[in-house]
Amino acid sequence: MKKLPVTLAALGLVTYAGMAVSAPAGDASRGKEVANLCVACHQPDGSGMNLEGGESWPGLAGMNAEYFAKQIRDIKQGTRLSPTMAPFASMLDDQKTADVAAYYSQLEPTAGKGGENADPATLKRGQQLAEQGDWSKYIVSCKSCHGPGNRGAGEAFPGIAGQHAGYIEAQLKAWKTGARKNDPQDLMGSIARRMSDDDIHAVAVWLASQKPGNN
Ligand code: HEC
Ligand code: HEC
Repeated sequence: MKKLPVTLAALGLVTYAGMAVSAPAGDASRGKEVANLCVACHQPDGSGMNLEGGESWPGLAGMNAEYFAKQIRDIKQGTRLSPTMAPFASMLDDQKTADVAAYYSQLEPTAGKGGENADPATLKRGQQLAEQGDWSKYIVSCKSCHGPGNRGAGEAFPGIAGQHAGYIEAQLKAWKTGARKNDPQDLMGSIARRMSDDDIHAVAVWLASQKPGNN
């Protein structure tokens, strides 16, 4: 795991047992074949799609391979509920998962959509939440876990900058309703439950308009 932000170390969250799953090594060229099953939604370049008012398909290009594989396992196990994605996750054994994760991890990260028409006040609030947090609501800044530029920290903390706004919004709401409860120690659930729908929207559109990538 790469170096984590100091704030996390101070919280004592540095040791993270949840990732200690033995997984086969991935082969990106085999993974490219597997990805034929995925391109209809996640697109050939891994950019996914932001769908206004509908279900957005996350960008996968450049995603940390271990984080990717964990999500497939969690969707198969049902700690992350997605009726759309579940049938595809269930087609992947551990080897295919590792291969397709390796393939997507080496694609060039793509830009997030959905922040283009946001008004300045909304973007300002989103930036505040992402970079400073809001202590009056006990909301920690996103970057204290998601790393510099919110572009990720190791395999446990995914990059969220440059992800689609509709997808970020849907995930925060899934944590609020309990449809997604695969996060270690309820780290995301406890934050999402403190966020209003307006704050969720604000941080989603701001993050979507930031430089994508994974630290
Ligand atoms: C019919 C559309 C569709 C297809 C085809 C599809 N996916 Fe997905 N995928 C989704 C949706 C929608 C989500 C978001 C799920 C949610 O809301 O939790 C998702 C989420 C994911 C995630 C989690 C990403 C993250 O940021 O946490 C991974 C990894 C993933 N898909 C990989 C794949 C792979 C690999 C394939 C092919 C084997 C595939 N998907 C095929 C729609 C699709
Ligand atoms: C205390 C640490 C922590 C903080 C602070 C935090 N997150 Fe997270 N976040 C996580 C962890 C851990 C995961 C990975 C969960 C998993 O394993 O599936 C995650 C995952 C996510 C995901 C899903 C990414 C994906 O593609 O699967 C989104 C979206 C997200 N966080 C948004 C935010 C936003 C927005 C904020 C700030 C308002 C924030 N997070 C603050 C720890 C944190």
